[in-house]
Amino acid sequence: MRNLITSLFLLLLFNSLAAQSRQKPINERVDSVLAQMTLDEKIGQMTLFTTDWGSTGPTIRPGYREDIMQGRCGALFNAHGVTFTRELQRIAVEESRLKIPLLFGYDVIHGFKTIFPIPLAEAASWDTEAVKASAEVAADEASAAGLHWTFAPMVDITRDPRWGRIMEGAGEDPFLASVVAAQRVKGFQGEATFDEPNHILACVKHFAAYGAPFGGRDYNTVDMSERMFREVYLPPYQAAIEAGARTVMTAFNELNGVPATSNKWLLTDLLRHELRFKGMVVTDYTSINELVEHGVAADEKHASELAVMAGSDMDMQSAAYHRFLKGLVEEGKVPIERVDEAARRVLRLKFELGLFEDPYRFCDEQREKEVILSDRNRSIARDVARKSIVLLRNEGVLPLPKETKKLAVLGPLAADKDNLIGFWSAAGEGRHCVSLVEGIRNKLGENVELLTAKGCEITGDDKSGFARAVEMARQADAVVVAIGESREMSGEAASKVDISLPGVQEDLVKALMETGKPLVVVLMNGRPLTIPWLGENAPALLETWWLGTEAGNAIADVLFGDYNPSGKLPVSFPRHVGQIPVFYSHKPTGRPYQPNDKWRSQYLDESNEPLFPFGYGLSYTTFEIGSPKPDKTSFRSGEVVKVQVKVTNTGNREGEEVVQLYIRDKVASVTRPVKELKAFQKVSLKPGESKDLRFTLFEKDFAFLDQNLEWTIEPGEFEIKVGNSSDNVKAVVVERVE
Ligand code: BGC
Repeated sequence: MRNLITSLFLLLLFNSLAAQSRQKPINERVDSVLAQMTLDEKIGQMTLFTTDWGSTGPTIRPGYREDIMQGRCGALFNAHGVTFTRELQRIAVEESRLKIPLLFGYDVIHGFKTIFPIPLAEAASWDTEAVKASAEVAADEASAAGLHWTFAPMVDITRDPRWGRIMEGAGEDPFLASVVAAQRVKGFQGEATFDEPNHILACVKHFAAYGAPFGGRDYNTVDMSERMFREVYLPPYQAAIEAGARTVMTAFNELNGVPATSNKWLLTDLLRHELRFKGMVVTDYTSINELVEHGVAADEKHASELAVMAGSDMDMQSAAYHRFLKGLVEEGKVPIERVDEAARRVLRLKFELGLFEDPYRFCDEQREKEVILSDRNRSIARDVARKSIVLLRNEGVLPLPKETKKLAVLGPLAADKDNLIGFWSAAGEGRHCVSLVEGIRNKLGENVELLTAKGCEITGDDKSGFARAVEMARQADAVVVAIGESREMSGEAASKVDISLPGVQEDLVKALMETGKPLVVVLMNGRPLTIPWLGENAPALLETWWLGTEAGNAIADVLFGDYNPSGKLPVSFPRHVGQIPVFYSHKPTGRPYQPNDKWRSQYLDESNEPLFPFGYGLSYTTFEIGSPKPDKTSFRSGEVVKVQVKVTNTGNREGEEVVQLYIRDKVASVTRPVKELKAFQKVSLKPGESKDLRFTLFEKDFAFLDQNLEWTIEPGEFEIKVGNSSDNVKAVVVERVE
């Protein structure tokens, strides 16, 4: 009876406090809730568990319903859909003591149900509005399915295509990746006022440098200079934080000897003090437990202490805070202020989302029905998908005539749907995808006869299907052959030492080419592949990545010229795996390559150059990019340099070109890359049309870290290089004077 009276009293007190405080600033409201909480309840807010539904790793905790009721977890992931989230939220706000609403997270990486191109592909669009639109639709659908929080964007730079998670980022370059990171955050979060329940919290991950594991092996050690870290790997995280990302996820890897999840320098000194991040830090999946395997924690209790004191606010799935944090506070190893700080950050997010006012704000069945997989969303997905395609080669084959009467559509991925959604495809389903065969049929209707066969599987050495495929090619006017990777070949825990085309797919192309028919190779894959033979011999080669739900329609748009391809590679394609890392913004070395001189930085058995460089991509029209014209030949501190560039469509089709601006600091006190991207613009031009593009270079664009790791700009000459690929530029020199 006494318990009942106490509970009733607490309930009334809480409700009246919540009601009174509705008008108060969020900080005060957070504090008033915190003041009611027991230590256990605070630790509950610092705990994130997965449901047993669609987990992305080992589910170590059944019984999450009881956890919610007891206030043992303040957030859940891998639960979505209004019915399910409403039921879980009901347990939290009706059956737990303090009725604090739950936060629902999920990996909404490139779409929720309407799946967009994989993030690497979207980066290939170099279309900042398209990237943002994709995140907006993802947020709209996810929020309509009861979700509040996505574990995206992943902004890890990588220069290693062996690493399967390359598909999830924006490629090799800090500038492009930073622009993309900021756009994704804005798309997910909108204005971040959450006035309407159609945006969700973003989570920048994985902090930090997860994309540089030794050997490209996922979860492996990362060790790099602070210069490299700050100049190349850090900028996209910073850009996402500046764009307002509310949460940050730690990384699995160690960085220079200290695992990210227990790295105080990363999570507190850098993130809080230097980057001024105000939001909440969540760990990656069981990464607190993994501190024991890393060898920095004696046991999971010790791991909890290290993680929380370093700055990890919320424990994803380790159940380590749940089990050990109370003891650590009682023993004086973790100050209660640290727990309060972390719990406060979580509560703040819930207030910002409006969940204290209405815990079911994101649970609207009607909206869920209307928004998810809507025609509008599919048409945006189609637009983003076609913009993400990169034309790598075209010997006059593309675009194919729409009058084609007989078309062979071959290859293991020609009629496939399941692989097109790619890895990390949230609630996406292959059955909603438009296959390539369907896309072509949608485009050409019944006027075309389609001959389709796989020819071979993605993997294995069975060539018994070749003869039938070759026969179809012989009968057809033209051949489209879709080959590549299956979706689980790239993504998390999908590192590879051999990144050539799997199985006998390349042999299939060779056999088909012997027919002499016009042939288009359509690549569907999650990472750069080593395909030198195709890169030099395919009559036409389209990189379509994994384009998502509308893949087939988008590819058909490009094949038949309804969309003129405009994508550019966000990452170099190596010729050979032994060249890795191969990237455009390398340093010069003391012995730069020169033909016919052995004693140079080079390989005996392979060129230094990638097969296709960063920034490369063809169009069905041609563009002439003039020499860059700076507004001054010398500039001083505080001055900007304006650069004008004329771009002309010299072909006979309308098209878009990505004009890229790079700089090189010719002489500096530390070595500088041979080129660094500093700006780009994507411009659409009619045949014969010209535009004058204007770029503005600010002081920061000329800056670098000096020998003391201080940002500096040194006097001297800088080359400004402009072109339509990192290997095709025109240069002009400007001088920085004292
Ligand atoms: C991944 C994260 C992901 C998390 C939750 C981990 O394995 O590294 O990126 O957000 O699982 O699914």
